[in-house]
Amino acid sequence: MRLDKMLSDMKIATRKEIKAMVKKGIITVNGEIAKKSSEKIDENNDIVKIYDEIIEYRKYLYFVMNKRKQVTSHTRDPLHKTVIDDMGELAVFDIFPVGRLDIDTTGLIIITNDGKFAHNLISPKKEVAKKYKVKLKEKIDPKYNETFQKGIKLMPEDIITQPATMEIIDEYNCYLTIKEGKFHQVKRMFEKVGNEVIELKRVQIGEFKLPQDLEEGEFRELTDEELKILGL
Ligand code: URA
Repeated sequence: MRLDKMLSDMKIATRKEIKAMVKKGIITVNGEIAKKSSEKIDENNDIVKIYDEIIEYRKYLYFVMNKRKQVTSHTRDPLHKTVIDDMGELAVFDIFPVGRLDIDTTGLIIITNDGKFAHNLISPKKEVAKKYKVKLKEKIDPKYNETFQKGIKLMPEDIITQPATMEIIDEYNCYLTIKEGKFHQVKRMFEKVGNEVIELKRVQIGEFKLPQDLEEGEFRELTDEELKILGL
């Protein structure tokens, strides 16, 4: 890869600015002053420094966020703040949220710039389970589980939901695990059985649980171990 591409991909500076930095002699590759901004480097193994700071090349970024209410899970939204707005300067890296949570839903959302990874998590064909903690307006009828296991007809899509599992926590709270992500799916499923969701929080995707260390609105990078759990 060209040196200027590596540094501009990392949003360090524009190609023009990188050219000027090379001219000044402040960029080194493996200890040698870079002579041309177009020179070829091995972005994964060469040690590139600007002054004394090592610039580590990373093509993809992966974050976990505990989404707060009042932000949408869009990249941009003319009317509301988004989860990407909550990430401040990191927005320059063309990151996007994986899948959708409603504006009033909290909890686990993955944010990345890796399209293939995102696709593997949300594609219905991959059947990655999403687990939600649900608070309901009316008392839970344990029979809901049977109905959810059989599947529920959703209109206007005219589809039957895939088998979903409800685990009761107490009279008004439960977990629901679904393997697809239709618009407002959890809310609509409970509406169909005559109840109403009043609080919704996503707590797990596949085997990956929302980390305990994140308050609502907080995010951090995923560790290598966590990425493995998420199938990377
Ligand atoms: N189902 C919903 O109804 N809302 C969400 O935000 C996620 C799943």
